[in-house]
Amino acid sequence: MQVGHVTGYISRQAPVQNCAKGGALGNAVEGILTLDTRISRRAALIGAGAVAAWMTSPARAILRTAGRVQVPAFVDDLIRRMTLEEKAGQLSLMASAWGGGAALSLNPASGGPNFQQQVAEARQGQLTGVFNGNGATMARILQTAAVKESRLKIPLIFAADIIHGHRTIFPVPLAEVASFEPELARRTAAAAAFEAAGAGIDWTFSPMVDVARDQRWGRGVEGGGEDVLLGRLFAAARVQGFQGSDLKSTEHLLACIKHFAAYGAAESGLDYNVVDISEQHLREVYLQPYKAGFDAGALSAMASFNEINGVPATGNRWLQTDLLRGEWGFEGFVVSDYTGDEEMIAAGFAKDGRDAARLAFLAGVDMSMQSGLYRQHLPGLVRSGEVPQEQLDASVRRVLALKAMLGLFDDPFRRIDVKRESARSLLPATRALAREAGRKSIVLLKNDGDLLPLPRSGKKIALIGPFAQGAHDLVGPWVVYGDDAKAIDLATGLRGALRDRASLVVAQGSGVEEPIAGGIEQAVAAARQADVVILAIGEGAGMSGEAQSRTEIVVPAPQQRLAEAVAATGKPIVVVLKHGRALALEGAVANAQAILATWFLGTETGNAIADVLFGAYNPSGRLPASFPRRSGQEPYYYAHKATGRPNPPGNLEPYKAHFRDTPNSALYPFGHGLTYGRIEYSRFVQSGPSLRTNGTIELSVTVTNRGARAAEEVVQLYTHERVASLTQPVRELKAFRKLALQPGQSEVVRFTLRAADLSFYGRDARPRTEPGTIDVWIAPSAESGGVHGTFDLIA
Ligand code: BGC
Repeated sequence: MQVGHVTGYISRQAPVQNCAKGGALGNAVEGILTLDTRISRRAALIGAGAVAAWMTSPARAILRTAGRVQVPAFVDDLIRRMTLEEKAGQLSLMASAWGGGAALSLNPASGGPNFQQQVAEARQGQLTGVFNGNGATMARILQTAAVKESRLKIPLIFAADIIHGHRTIFPVPLAEVASFEPELARRTAAAAAFEAAGAGIDWTFSPMVDVARDQRWGRGVEGGGEDVLLGRLFAAARVQGFQGSDLKSTEHLLACIKHFAAYGAAESGLDYNVVDISEQHLREVYLQPYKAGFDAGALSAMASFNEINGVPATGNRWLQTDLLRGEWGFEGFVVSDYTGDEEMIAAGFAKDGRDAARLAFLAGVDMSMQSGLYRQHLPGLVRSGEVPQEQLDASVRRVLALKAMLGLFDDPFRRIDVKRESARSLLPATRALAREAGRKSIVLLKNDGDLLPLPRSGKKIALIGPFAQGAHDLVGPWVVYGDDAKAIDLATGLRGALRDRASLVVAQGSGVEEPIAGGIEQAVAAARQADVVILAIGEGAGMSGEAQSRTEIVVPAPQQRLAEAVAATGKPIVVVLKHGRALALEGAVANAQAILATWFLGTETGNAIADVLFGAYNPSGRLPASFPRRSGQEPYYYAHKATGRPNPPGNLEPYKAHFRDTPNSALYPFGHGLTYGRIEYSRFVQSGPSLRTNGTIELSVTVTNRGARAAEEVVQLYTHERVASLTQPVRELKAFRKLALQPGQSEVVRFTLRAADLSFYGRDARPRTEPGTIDVWIAPSAESGGVHGTFDLIA
């Protein structure tokens, strides 16, 4: 036996209460990185090199200095010389008005100024920066106006939504979580930062870390899925990837944790809707990933659009000041989300624009995005005494300090270089990373009769569906600078992998939401001539993302009809799903022999999917969000409560907690994902019958690959406290390991749990551990049995 490191993660519950910088997640990450795992010599140490690299990398150093803002002396001198109008200008961020720019096509029409007016605003000190602009050329013009022609020569900051890549587009963030490899997300965020910083961008509005438990909500695609542990780990990893260890680096960006807070808890999954939630639940679930992101060093935050318990987040002093700055010790600055300050008028919280500016600013939102309300009203509010001058100065100080930390006062043009912009764009190594991330994001949901992997020759394949080919829907939602035309579609990816390219026939069959004349007939004819059908169906890129909530999270009707018609040919079908959320699969789609969840994989879509379809890569992704049986089950998530009437496994029992027509379990639960191997869990061993509140317990399982092909398994550890002063979720993920197993290989995987890992938030909204009986499962998904044991948590 040897002691080694595998890619392993264990929960270290972030005590969101009373935990200042450098605290909880710093420890959690330390825990992750130094976790010792005894595994046999034959074990393949997936990511071991990467973990070792982390241990010595400068990125790791940031964990120790997380969240500190340095304010150079000149900043206060500058503040003394600024007029109220110039101060308000430093707190006003606007969408880029560059002609045909990205900003206006992404966000609601702003009716903003033309570019020349915007240059004039920069010259007059009315602007702190712009967002979603277009490249180094634009940035140079604006920056020149600011630093050469304005009175105080304060540099502008350039922001953008770099959500999953700049020019090279990586899988959507939700997809990447399926890798169960936060280190992968750190690498893709770093690569995105490298390209974006090369194009004049200083600051990304990312990562989005909203826990999303209702798949009707369209924005789950931007985040970390339904689970708290994964949410925390991916939030931290992405922050570290974007920011690196030195914000002055021209290869890194300032990260922005958004949307603070609980945006993902929108009632009924309707975007922008209200959130009504207990403080205990808020802390237990939704606040965790934000806290992890701040602990990892993020120095900006974006207030969310939603209200929480009647108070809009943008006007919520408890949230933006008491909790964020007071309790958590956040030293960076908070920006509103788009016109979030102004929207408090329609929400019935602010009387008018002046009132909205006052409420948002006093709540702790330092910078206003896009509404212009701060530059319009803050000077007057300070003059009338409604806003204290010191508070205005404190906000300006934060913003200027961050500009200094980004190196903008040293060299305002440090990230603005037209040559560098193209030299860094779509490099082969970045594309290779996109392909790696793509294949690791794919989840094999079903593989009856081992239909997959397909042979590279000797079979005629009909590739059918609206996503079979063409430069569309590849890069996916929330892409500002990426281009479908630069991405590999599925047909191209398959042809690249096939020995005989002529063995592939392609038929569109249907549009995404509209049928096409004769499409089904053509598709059926293609299927009849083939040995196997690959059905590329699902959601278009515009069906998830902001304002894209759906009541029915199904494959759109025309595509479902196409699937039914193709299935009637009796040919074996591999469904390749495109989607920005978990879907409720039905009929011929659910009944297909094989199903791959492939999300939006970005630039290398076709290659990554081909790698999995033909077995060049053995699928290793696991669901970061549960696939329900029906839309009506939403919000559906694995860490739900039992209720007093849980339905026993099996039939629907009368007067038990289920819908009339559907068991209240998942079709494919969180954590589910098959491999091309055959993985078996056996021999649960625990180090003792109990765990003391200051002690640890070791739990282990033997994992064996009984299949004929190599496989990667994500071994998941879940716990449940049977009786507590507040009822506990039926299962919660506490740790996981990803390991590679050759055919016939068997490994013992050990986890060490501390009592603190079993803490929960009490009615007083403080973390507590309570003695009791703990169920533990080490299993391949949140709803599978795996191996099970119990131990007592004792005082
Ligand atoms: C979105 C944010 C985004 C901002 C700027 C808003 O509509 O909610 O996530 O960062 O626009 O594009």
